[in-house]
Amino acid sequence: MPTTDLKTTVIKIGGSTLGAEDTTLEDVAALQQAGERVVVVHGGGAMITDWLDKMQVPSEFVDGLRSTSAEALNVVVAVLRGVINAQLVAQLGARGARAVGLCGVDGGLVRAERYDPRLGYVGQITGVNGELLTDLLDAGVVPVIAPIGLEAPDQPLNINADTVAGEVARAISAKHLVFLTDVDGLMDASGAVIDRLDATRAEALRAAGTIAGGMIPKVEACFRATEGGGLAIMANGRTPGTLRRIVDGEQLGTRIEA
Ligand SMILES: Nc1ncnc2c1ncn2[C@@H]1O[C@H](COP(=O)(O)OP(=O)(O)OP(=O)(O)O)[C@@H](O)[C@H]1O
Ligand SMILES: [Mg+2]
Repeated sequence: MPTTDLKTTVIKIGGSTLGAEDTTLEDVAALQQAGERVVVVHGGGAMITDWLDKMQVPSEFVDGLRSTSAEALNVVVAVLRGVINAQLVAQLGARGARAVGLCGVDGGLVRAERYDPRLGYVGQITGVNGELLTDLLDAGVVPVIAPIGLEAPDQPLNINADTVAGEVARAISAKHLVFLTDVDGLMDASGAVIDRLDATRAEALRAAGTIAGGMIPKVEACFRATEGGGLAIMANGRTPGTLRRIVDGEQLGTRIEA
């Protein structure tokens, strides 16, 4: 049974928005200070690509997911857990939030297993320890999660951050799952942002190739998360105030409801 936590907002901060002149971290700190329960999951695709290039480790994408060799996995873990997670926790702390960084390995938070030989050390999620998160939330902490899973007994795996956010939201029955990315929402073939998306339309857009690349795991995660009754939103994290406005009930970006 999932742990019910209908007051929690899970926010996925896209690697694509990190370092942009936005207000996401201020908004997260303000939300926590206003008494909201907030979980942050972050990506880091662009920085990982950068470091893999610098270190001359080859990698390629298969259906929007990064195929990960043993060598690439070390870079993925180092960048996500070492660089980006520590930076985010420090920046949230500087803005007055009580944030604690962890990845899916910590406390067995995200259990996973390898599932596709083409992808190497990429995990699919088999379980999320929602209790660990609710304990942290009860203690007044903002958990900041790097998307690395644990394959029993001791193998870290690379997992798409959108997928982690979706499964985390589902495990704790979060009220809101907000994807902050570098576009205004999911766009149709003409480039117009889709306000509301249902499963039938998503299927058609996917078949037509309109939902592509990084949007594939995001849309899948939205539907996974909303099966439990919550609301998922994909919006532009680079626009100041986006998170605040969403939590205040404004209709921004693309919404997916069960
Ligand atoms: N139909 C679509 N509508 C909008 N964006 C789309 C669509 N199909 C593909 N995309 C691409 O998806 C990108 C967003 O996903 P991407 O994985 O790059 O960012 P992210 O998930 O926010 O960051 P990270 O993967 O680092 O966490 C957009 O910049 C856009 O290029
Ligand atoms: Mg992505």
